[in-house]
Amino acid sequence: MKVTVNRKSHFNAAHRLYNADWSDARNAMVFGKCANPHYHGHNYDLTVSVTGEIHPDTGFVMDMKVLKKIIEEEVEEAFDHKNLNEEVPEFATLNPTAENIAVVIYNKLKPKLDSDLVLSITLYETARNYVVYSGT
Ligand code: NI
Repeated sequence: MKVTVNRKSHFNAAHRLYNADWSDARNAMVFGKCANPHYHGHNYDLTVSVTGEIHPDTGFVMDMKVLKKIIEEEVEEAFDHKNLNEEVPEFATLNPTAENIAVVIYNKLKPKLDSDLVLSITLYETARNYVVYSGT
């Protein structure tokens, strides 16, 4: 019997989406306002989902206090109020799209969890645009 536990989190961050191999005009056409060279911010909403067996001793899939702390350390402290392009090493050469941010978050959190737990990342960049990454 597998159950999914979910922890919500939030961070504000600035980014710019661009491809350095392209002209300014092409970047503006593909990435729109997100190509603004002066950066802009988003209020990112994150849901971290962990699926696994209920441990008979605790009744927990995992201790949510532990999950909360891992998210604080690996995501909130690393990303909140940061310029993702300039201040977060993972995005030095990786375009900080919602897709890539979700993959980076997954890769930071996965090694911190017991290996038999299944992780899924849901990241909202706006109220209507969100991505899901589950490691495949
Ligand atoms: Ni943007």
